[in-house]
Amino acid sequence: MLVLKGLKKSFIEPGGERLPVLDVPEFRLGEAEQAVLLGRSGCGKTTLLHVIAGISTPDSGVVEIDGVDITKLDEARRDRIRAEKVGYIFQTFNLLAGFSALENVMLGMTFAQGKRDERRARDLLGRVGLSHRLRHKPGTLSVGEQQRVAVARALANRPRLLLADEPTASVDPKHQQQVIDLIRSTCREESVAIFLVTHAPEVASQFDRVEHLEQFNRVAALA
Ligand SMILES: Nc1ncnc2c1ncn2[C@@H]1O[C@H](COP(=O)(O)OP(=O)(O)OP(=O)(O)O)[C@@H](O)[C@H]1O
Ligand SMILES: [Mg+2]
Repeated sequence: MLVLKGLKKSFIEPGGERLPVLDVPEFRLGEAEQAVLLGRSGCGKTTLLHVIAGISTPDSGVVEIDGVDITKLDEARRDRIRAEKVGYIFQTFNLLAGFSALENVMLGMTFAQGKRDERRARDLLGRVGLSHRLRHKPGTLSVGEQQRVAVARALANRPRLLLADEPTASVDPKHQQQVIDLIRSTCREESVAIFLVTHAPEVASQFDRVEHLEQFNRVAALA
């Protein structure tokens, strides 16, 4: 499903120096496999998810999603693969302020499928406990509610791979379990692979596969 090979990513610092963040010799995630990613703050977890999603480009290496190396594609084709195959729950939500909860979830569908499935959007929002907030815009939702909308939106389009960057960081314990259950059961039913970043031990312990970025990233190993 996901294959990374010889993946390197660095940033240019304000002073012009190169800051290496990722050096991943090899990493694989199987079809419908569910894995969590752990690692200390600043070790490169978000950077890795961005590179996998094609939001940012690596310096070198292979990012294969469903057999296609997205690093070989131009930006437009990369965007299309992301829209079709990847669901992304951003650490900072990235909801559209001018649209309601229901519209935000439905907007997650339009790009790839060309049609909107309002029933699915309502169903997903119901499953994260937001049936009573369908018409609220993000600015009028609590932070935890916004995060739950972001979860529903990422699953709306039936992706093959779900990348989730601390999807329960702003959610209270009751809803944390509800969100994790929704993510895992939906992905199991629809054969979606999950790569989920968390700092919460009680979330990580539920997964069979637990990866520590420091253990497969040579840069982090040196830091
Ligand atoms: N655009 C950028 N330019 C320069 N440095 C950056 C840039 N983006 C990230 N970094 C640096 O790269 C490192 C990895 O950042 P990243 O956001 O991937 O960490 P993280 O593991 O997700 O941390 P957290 O757990 O706090 O979210 C950090 O030290 C950060 O300062
Ligand atoms: Mg991060």
